[in-house]
Amino acid sequence: MADDSVFSFKETLVPKKSPLLLRLIVLVFATVCGIYVCFIGLKQFSVSTTTGFLNVEVSDRPCPRPNLEDWEAPYVHYPKPVTYSRAECACHPVRYFAILSTQRSGSGWFETLLNSHMNVSSNGEIFSVKDRRANASTIVETLDKLYNLDWLSSAAKNECTTAVGLKWMLNQGLVQHHEEILDYFTKKGVSVIFLFRRNLLRRMISILANTYDRDFKLLNGTHKSHVHSPLEAEILASYKPHVNATTLIPELKKVQQMAVKALGYFNSTRHILLYYEDVVNNRTKLLDVQGFLKVPRKNLSSRQVKIHKGTLSEQVANWDDVQRTLNGTEFEGFLHADYRL
Ligand SMILES: *[C@@H]1O[C@H](CO)[C@@H](O)[C@H](O)[C@H]1NC(C)=O
Ligand SMILES: *[C@@H]1O[C@H](CO)[C@@H](O)[C@H](O)[C@H]1NC(C)=O
Ligand SMILES: *[C@@H]1O[C@H](CO)[C@@H](O)[C@H](O)[C@H]1NC(C)=O
Ligand SMILES: *[C@@H]1O[C@H](CO)[C@@H](O)[C@H](O)[C@H]1NC(C)=O
Ligand SMILES: *[C@@H]1O[C@H](CO)[C@@H](O)[C@H](O)[C@H]1NC(C)=O
Ligand SMILES: *[C@@H]1O[C@H](CO)[C@@H](O)[C@H](O)[C@H]1NC(C)=O
Ligand SMILES: *[C@@H]1O[C@H](CO)[C@@H](O)[C@H](O)[C@H]1NC(C)=O
Ligand SMILES: *[C@@H]1O[C@H](CO)[C@@H](O)[C@H](O)[C@H]1NC(C)=O
Repeated sequence: MADDSVFSFKETLVPKKSPLLLRLIVLVFATVCGIYVCFIGLKQFSVSTTTGFLNVEVSDRPCPRPNLEDWEAPYVHYPKPVTYSRAECACHPVRYFAILSTQRSGSGWFETLLNSHMNVSSNGEIFSVKDRRANASTIVETLDKLYNLDWLSSAAKNECTTAVGLKWMLNQGLVQHHEEILDYFTKKGVSVIFLFRRNLLRRMISILANTYDRDFKLLNGTHKSHVHSPLEAEILASYKPHVNATTLIPELKKVQQMAVKALGYFNSTRHILLYYEDVVNNRTKLLDVQGFLKVPRKNLSSRQVKIHKGTLSEQVANWDDVQRTLNGTEFEGFLHADYRL
């Protein structure tokens, strides 16, 4: 229709009857042309938006399914962070993990080892902040952000993160909200690394010393839970705590039971159980962990230095009491150096 009128005006243009009529015709011609061009332009614009939309759909297509066994599929994810683009890493599958542990069980050291891997991002004790563990919905919200790779901590990697997780202490809402958390872990395919300490007496000494240092700040007035030099370790270990013999056994039982409970609650997840002492003594354990997280196996390293080394008897002020209390009990083994260092 539009085409016809343009041609007819062109034909009437040829005779050049009067300048006024000519001007009028030119004006009308220009107007019609303008409308026509505008119309075509609009048409093209709408075409280009459709193809644009199609392009988006193409790049949004799920990543090619990696060569996996069927059971593995629920554990593999392709997060799309809202805070940045994964760019060329977008199709690197990501696995979710959580390190479930208790304070002073070597989890800080363990986490620095994991973070020395270019593809692992372990984001620390996110739930040490009370607001984040206020209730099940704040927990889920926090986990969603973490596993979507939108948790920007010093553990975030520029490289392609293929395993992302956190360190979570049993007393940070984990046992309290275990049902909802198990539900989340199951639905999202989160793999669990239990990290416990075999020698709970050593753990207790570490807690007492760390609590003392919080008040007395042995390192030039700065409280440190982890150190990077043998000298600092020596200074911190110079404090020998006094262990309350009356509450010793009930305390050890309490910690033991909490670990058993947590193992029971999260028993149905895909998990691995590690003991700090075994990781210290046997570096093959770190290869097991990397296999469990399905990241390429590397030599992992940490700058942290162990604070309490050597025999236990030198680390406690009232060793005789402790020995007498534990002798003949199920915890007697804790008295003996059960690993070298
Ligand atoms: C969870 O806690 C947050 C922050 O304290 C609060 O705003 C929210 O209402 C709570 N939600 C439920 C379901 O209790
Ligand atoms: C690990 O990260 C490196 C560096 O970004 C990347 O080249 C490599 O493909 C990643 N590995 C995996 C298994 O995604
Ligand atoms: C602490 O003090 C010692 C000497 O008293 C000094 O050598 C060391 O550098 C100090 N460390 C820090 C972290 O200030
Ligand atoms: C041990 O702990 C109990 C309970 O907290 C307390 O009553 C007692 O005084 C403590 N004993 C020592 C020697 O500190
Ligand atoms: C975990 O579950 C298995 C079988 O479902 C059971 O044999 C085992 O005792 C459970 N472990 C714990 C710590 O509850
Ligand atoms: C070290 O750990 C590996 C894997 O967990 C195990 O097969 C091996 O027996 C351990 N070695 C020692 C000396 O315990
Ligand atoms: C890892 O470390 C061990 C001992 O420190 C060394 O023998 C081995 O060659 C290292 N492997 C790699 C791949 O760097
Ligand atoms: C531990 O108990 C045994 C007997 O069961 C006894 O012979 C030993 O002297 C006790 N040791 C200490 C340090 O109390």
